[in-house]
Amino acid sequence: MQHQMVMIIDFGGQYNQLIARRVRECGVYCEVIPYRKASIESIKEKNPVGIIFTGGPNSVYLENSPGISKEVFELGIPVLGICYGAQLMAYLLGGKASTAPTSEYGKTDTEFDCSSVLFDDLPARAVTWMSHTDYISQLPEGFRVTAHTAVCPVAAMENAERKLYAVQFHPEVNHTENGSRMLHSFLYGVCGCTGDWTMENYAQTSIARIREKVGDGRVLLALSGGVDSSVCAALLSKAIGSQLTCIFVDHGFMRKNEGDEVEEAFKDWNVNFVRVNAKDLFMSKLSGVSAPETKRKIIGEEFIRVFEAEAKKIGKVDFLAQGTIYPDIIESGAGDAAVIKSHHNVGGLPDHVDFKEIIEPLRLLFKDEVRALGTTLGLSDKLVWRQPFPGPGLAIRIIGEITDERLEILKDADWVFRDELAKCGLDRQISQYFAVLTTMRSVGVMGDGRTYDYTLALRAVTTTDFMTADFARIPYDVLERCAVRIVNEVKHINRIVYDITTKPPATIEWE
Ligand code: XMP
Repeated sequence: MQHQMVMIIDFGGQYNQLIARRVRECGVYCEVIPYRKASIESIKEKNPVGIIFTGGPNSVYLENSPGISKEVFELGIPVLGICYGAQLMAYLLGGKASTAPTSEYGKTDTEFDCSSVLFDDLPARAVTWMSHTDYISQLPEGFRVTAHTAVCPVAAMENAERKLYAVQFHPEVNHTENGSRMLHSFLYGVCGCTGDWTMENYAQTSIARIREKVGDGRVLLALSGGVDSSVCAALLSKAIGSQLTCIFVDHGFMRKNEGDEVEEAFKDWNVNFVRVNAKDLFMSKLSGVSAPETKRKIIGEEFIRVFEAEAKKIGKVDFLAQGTIYPDIIESGAGDAAVIKSHHNVGGLPDHVDFKEIIEPLRLLFKDEVRALGTTLGLSDKLVWRQPFPGPGLAIRIIGEITDERLEILKDADWVFRDELAKCGLDRQISQYFAVLTTMRSVGVMGDGRTYDYTLALRAVTTTDFMTADFARIPYDVLERCAVRIVNEVKHINRIVYDITTKPPATIEWE
């Protein structure tokens, strides 16, 4: 694809993906490359318009610390070093980095020299986000200081002539005031970026590429109804129309009406859409099963079997498409053993489907870009803003055995919870929210009668990576409305609790 590229060289910093997202938000395409793979040859080959060094947990002056050839500064390509990357730049160019007498962590008052292109038009004093125990203690030759704090004499430095810039703080973190503007200035004011990374462009070039690759071949996609596979389906459909077959295995554990919504969403698209209603099959396999892991395993295996059986009816396909996205394939610069997370939307590739090659048209995109692409392609907000949903669906949100009655209760209660959060606009602020049917029953009173019914748990979390999560601070009056409505509108629930555990120690899902 013909667009400018910025290379982010990762030295193991915790914010590597955040830097990449900020750059993309500026309309500039970038890739995150682990420092071990950033040889001078590979940099020349990729021909970036700019390079950003990330932070990292090490000290540059220690043996075996992550590094890079100092030839990188001779290529004429602008470089911005952040935190460890700033110290590395100073160190490699003959300056010094050493342990700071006082480390800085968190929001820090910083003074800027606004004659620097990075801080042009910004206030001379602002808060930055710091996280360092080392600092630049001596400037390399040809550099000047462009920011400092009370205890950090070189909070930013530059050699404008050579287009080399460094900041000790983290401009990518929201707590740094104007941080995005500083990155924008580096990209546009120093690297000469033109902002050619837009989802309209991406859609067009990607469609052309898919057409070229697929030719008159046939493509098969397992559609889960989630954001990634839906956008993947939409993109492929625009590119190759009826050469695409989407198989949507409806295991019956989708949220209320969701199976129909997915089918409806693709009704007017030029694709072969196959919906397999397999609820009865899944329910029969799960009859009497209550252990969470067994439930998951049965559902995962059965899903593949149903998909395979359906795919066999189609016969040989040339490509199997997957909705893999960029965070799934980014390799971190930290640690010596590179771990690449493999990701399969359907929980494992089918063994018996005959195909030549896998295509992954979303593999360059972050989640927010996938959503933007979905909107560009004309998918509804409902589909594009769908929250993450586990493959086994509501089956792991009913504690213990799944019965038809329990499934219906949970679908209805979960729907009310979602409806209330959407009404007060919390739905886009909370990362994931759902109801869980505990199969505990307790005594209640309704009207003049005693009830003995289920307890429903509400779960809502905020998180960026789903590896750790905090419970969402939903206002009490919203929780109250949810409780009142659910108990009134859904039979067999007489008690509602709100889950206030973080992850860890709890997980997001209950099973
Ligand atoms: P936990 O419960 O492990 O969940 O804290 C983290 C995130 O992963 C989702 N999740 C799954 N997603 N297949 C999926 O595709 C699964 O089997 C699965 N289990 C959990 C969960 O909803 C949360 O977003």
